Amino acid sequence: MALSAVFLGLLLYVQVSLGQNSSTTLTSIAGTSSVQAANSSTTTPTITISVPSSTITNTGGASFPPVGSITRDFSPSGLEKLWDVVGPVESPPFTTTVVPHTPVVLPSPPPTLYPSFYANRPKDILPHLKYPKGFLFGLATAAYQVEGATKNEGKGPNMWDWASRQPNAIVDNSTADITDLQYFLYKEDVARVAALGVTAHSLSISWARIFPFGTADSPVNQEGLDHYADVIKYHRESGVEPIVTLFHWDMPLALQAYYGGFTSGQIVDDFVNYAKTVFSAYNGTVKTWFTFNEPRVFCSQVASYPFNITYAPGVNTSTAPYQCSYNLIKAHAGAVKAFREMNIVGEIAFKSDDFVGTPWRKNTTDDAAAVERHAAFQIGVFADPVYVSGDWPKILTDTLPPDYLPRFTKQEKKDILGSADFFAIDAYRSQYISAPAEGLDACLSNGPSDPEWPQCNDIQEFDSNAMWAVGASADTGAPWLQDTSRFLRSAMKQIHKRWPTNKIYVTEIGFAQPLEGQRTELYRIKEDTDRTNYIMSYLGELLLSIHEDKIPIMGAFIWSMVDNAEWGQGLSTRFGIQYVNYTSLERTYKRSAMELSEFFEAHLHN
Ligand SMILES: *[C@@H]1O[C@H](CO)[C@@H](O)[C@H](O)[C@H]1NC(C)=O
Ligand SMILES: *[C@@H]1O[C@H](CO)[C@@H](O)[C@H](O)[C@H]1NC(C)=O
Ligand SMILES: *[C@@H]1O[C@H](CO)[C@@H](O)[C@H](O)[C@H]1NC(C)=O
Ligand SMILES: *[C@@H]1O[C@H](CO)[C@@H](O)[C@H](O)[C@H]1NC(C)=O
Ligand SMILES: *[C@@H]1O[C@H](CO)[C@@H](O)[C@H](O)[C@H]1NC(C)=O
Ligand SMILES: *[C@@H]1O[C@H](CO)[C@@H](O)[C@H](O)[C@H]1NC(C)=O
Ligand SMILES: *[C@@H]1O[C@H](CO)[C@@H](O)[C@H](O)[C@H]1NC(C)=O
Ligand SMILES: *[C@@H]1O[C@H](CO)[C@@H](O)[C@H](O)[C@H]1NC(C)=O
Repeated sequence: MALSAVFLGLLLYVQVSLGQNSSTTLTSIAGTSSVQAANSSTTTPTITISVPSSTITNTGGASFPPVGSITRDFSPSGLEKLWDVVGPVESPPFTTTVVPHTPVVLPSPPPTLYPSFYANRPKDILPHLKYPKGFLFGLATAAYQVEGATKNEGKGPNMWDWASRQPNAIVDNSTADITDLQYFLYKEDVARVAALGVTAHSLSISWARIFPFGTADSPVNQEGLDHYADVIKYHRESGVEPIVTLFHWDMPLALQAYYGGFTSGQIVDDFVNYAKTVFSAYNGTVKTWFTFNEPRVFCSQVASYPFNITYAPGVNTSTAPYQCSYNLIKAHAGAVKAFREMNIVGEIAFKSDDFVGTPWRKNTTDDAAAVERHAAFQIGVFADPVYVSGDWPKILTDTLPPDYLPRFTKQEKKDILGSADFFAIDAYRSQYISAPAEGLDACLSNGPSDPEWPQCNDIQEFDSNAMWAVGASADTGAPWLQDTSRFLRSAMKQIHKRWPTNKIYVTEIGFAQPLEGQRTELYRIKEDTDRTNYIMSYLGELLLSIHEDKIPIMGAFIWSMVDNAEWGQGLSTRFGIQYVNYTSLERTYKRSAMELSEFFEAHLHN
């Protein structure tokens, strides 16, 4: 459903205090959301705002200006010119931080999922095993996907603000202009998950909120810095450790327009400058940092519509992902070098994604070779240089000439090797891998004319004998995702063997419950049994991974704290352990949230 349709006919009644203290509190009365003055002792006058139906559609955005055609004008009118590239933006229904309802009262727990002869209650799963002391029980979000308030408090536009308005870019035509409005509802969200016993929240900072124009020589937006200072402080006061990612795909539009973003080497200094600004601001209040979220996915995205028209000179769709990888890894290493030189408190790494894989057929060595290619292209591309060798995996340099994949200098290798304090993996799934249908050798010798080149390997979602699925499928909006808990332990062993570290965080796991985006009755939506099974199985497997396989896993983060804007899938594919009603912005715990809470309470070492 389009966001414009969701908002059609909606009236949100917003009561805003006009007094000094403009904090507001969100209350929900009979399905109608209203915002009231928090400080009921004041008698300041109030106004009532009704938010009109949206007139914004996702086809309003202009096509992207040729790279280099926008001049660097760091004035308010310069910022407005950047927003003109995006097009009109939907304003949020309120623009002050909502005071949470505390204490949060949890609903009574859901009835046991299945009879006990089929499934245990969460507390009875592997009851003799505990997570180690200090283990982070976390939830994850990302700025673009949850914040909304996209043009508020001085933020500059990012590339997803633009992309979400291009025709056919987002399946349900929604934007993330408002999405969960966590930008103003973060206190409510943190209080609600603290009540579940959650001990960490992996969130991301929006670069364009700190530097609306992105560049090192452009002004800092103090409102943005102050906002995240409050966010971090509130987390700590609530007993929820804030864990910060500097870049979760929300590229400042200015940098894409000036020089083509990560396809240009100019990005390195600008990213390092942004990182240093944020490190200084929150030194000591954030202990665990990530430079980049899933760089491999991000750098693949730059070659796909609509991002494929925004390259630096000399870069094209075939080479862009590798130019991006080269510049991004240097930006990562530069930020980590600064982190260490500045004596920033804590630990830092980046978030890998994907899996090594299992050979699909036992009777062909091509499938075993395909697994090696998969590991190299999906994880090794960033993890080999950082954790093992300082250089690209040999499979990549053997396949890709230097005009595709630039080679590192001696100094670059030195800077990159060791630029992480631990390993982080978004471990949603792990699957079978096969050689391409025409055979591995054929794919390699065909070169760029082969649609499977340069990876030359295929994912298989069912076994090679009887075609049984690897696991239950997620919603059709997440066709890449199955419940592959059966492979999780071997996946973690592979990671630890190939990229050894003393500590691993499983930084994202999660599941899109089939049909959730289409259902309308809350009692059906709350009953997310497939997500619950996925989470329980994964967390149980992680316990075994820790205790039986001796893998040093020290945190697990469920994606996601709340339903949110799932990139190209828009608002129609839901990953939250809490349901978000996008008309009232009300949050509701799903079964998975309650079972997760029970599981962790029983398995955390205290
Ligand atoms: C406004 O309310 C917030 C939250 O209750 C409080 O921390 C702040 O001190 C108040 N500000 C003023 C000016 O009263
Ligand atoms: C979402 O909120 C709207 C407005 O309050 C309400 O009419 C609707 O029933 C809610 N949807 C669900 C699934 O609860
Ligand atoms: C309410 O307002 C009074 C007077 O301005 C102030 O002292 C107090 O801190 C406010 N309380 C909250 C919760 O904002
Ligand atoms: C999205 O908008 C396009 C017009 O740009 C329209 O053709 C399409 O049907 C819309 N899709 C949905 C799911 O509303
Ligand atoms: C970008 O991708 C779209 C959709 O696949 C395609 O039609 C277009 O030609 C591509 N443009 C460039 C410059 O690669
Ligand atoms: C960060 O905090 C540590 C510990 O307080 C301090 O030694 C270091 O100088 C700080 N670095 C910066 C850049 O503020
Ligand atoms: C491998 O086994 C499959 C059946 O499991 C068979 O179809 C295939 O021909 C075999 N391949 C080779 C190279 O023996
Ligand atoms: C893209 O760039 C590569 C490397 O310079 C070149 O070999 C290739 O022909 C280019 N592709 C297109 C479609 O221009």
